[in-house]
Amino acid sequence: MATGQGIALVDLDDDGVDRAFRTEVLVGLKQVQKAVPARWFYDDAGSRLFEEITQLPEYYLTRAETEILRGRGEDFAHLIGPGRAVVEFGSGSSVKTPLLLHAIEPAAYVPLDISGDFLRASARDLAAKFPGLPVYPVEADFMRQVALPEEVAGLQKLGFFPGSTIGNMVPASAVDLLRAMRQTLGEGSQLLIGMDLIKDRKVLEAAYDDAAGVTAQFNLNLLARINRELDGDIPLEDFRHLALWNDDLARIEMHLQARRDLNFRVSGQSFSIQAGETIHTENSHKFSRRMGNTMLLASGWTPVEHWLDSEERFALVLARATEPRSAP
Ligand code: AVJ
Repeated sequence: MATGQGIALVDLDDDGVDRAFRTEVLVGLKQVQKAVPARWFYDDAGSRLFEEITQLPEYYLTRAETEILRGRGEDFAHLIGPGRAVVEFGSGSSVKTPLLLHAIEPAAYVPLDISGDFLRASARDLAAKFPGLPVYPVEADFMRQVALPEEVAGLQKLGFFPGSTIGNMVPASAVDLLRAMRQTLGEGSQLLIGMDLIKDRKVLEAAYDDAAGVTAQFNLNLLARINRELDGDIPLEDFRHLALWNDDLARIEMHLQARRDLNFRVSGQSFSIQAGETIHTENSHKFSRRMGNTMLLASGWTPVEHWLDSEERFALVLARATEPRSAP
C-alpha cells in the first residue's frame, strides 16, 4: 500500500487539546443560539455510537444506500466504467466502498480524510480486500481543494461521497464543498453522492430519536467530550436530546435542551443556560430530486442518473463535471 502525504492536520496546544475544538466550542457557546459544529461528535466513543446508529431499526439511511449499491452494480459499470481513480471523501466504510469497487473495476482508490488514524485503518482493510488495487490514502481537509497523489494524475476520477454527509452542511457550505470537489477531481470527472430524501416527519424524527436511546447518547457524548478534553463541568443529566424536523429549511435539527437553569464552566470560562434553552448540535438536510439537482448544478456538476432504494427513502446521484463553456 502506498502511503499518504503524512501532514499532521490536527493542531494541539501544550496541554494536548485540539485548538480548533476549543475555539469552536467557546465561540459556539457564546452565541445567542448556542451551537457546536457536528464534526466534533466523532471522537472514539462518538464514532462507535454512530456505527451503532447505522444498525438501528429506525435509522434507515445506511440500509437504504447499501441496498442501492448492492443492486445497481451493472448500472454503475455501464455509466462509470472501468479504469477510474475512485476518490472517497471521508474514511471508507467497510461495507459500502467494496460494493462500488467490485462493480466498476477502478484503477486506483484514494481515500481522503482529516483523521489519519481512521484513514490508515480503512485503507489497510480495503487494500487487503482488493489485492491488485493501488491504494493511496491522503490526510486532508476536503472542504478545500486537495492535491491528489501524482500516481493518479493521468486517470479520470470518480468522487464518492456516500451517507448523505452533504446534508450536515447548510446549502451555502454544501455548494462550497461540491465546488472544491469539482476542483480536486478535475475535467472529465464524475461524482457519486448519497442524499437522504424528504419524507414523513414522523419517520425522520424517529430516525434521529430512536427508542433505544442510542442517538441521545451520541448527542450527549459531545458534552462528555467537552468535559473531558476542555476541562468542563457540564452536568449531562440536566440535558435532554431533541430531534426536530424544520420544515422551512428541510432539515432535522438535533439539540441538547437544558432541563433547568444552569451555570457551567469550559476551559476556565463561565456559561449559563436557561431551562428550555438549547445547544444546537447538528443539521441533517433532506432533499427532493430537484433540490439535489439544483445544488449540484450550482456547483459545477451535471446530474446524470438517480437511483432510489425500493422504499424510495434515499437517493444515490451520479453527476459529471460540467464542461466549461461560454454560452448557455
Ligand atoms: C453521518 C451525517 C450522515 O446526519 O444522518 C446520525 C449523522 N446524526 N444520527 C446523519 C447522524 C444522528 C449522519 N451522517
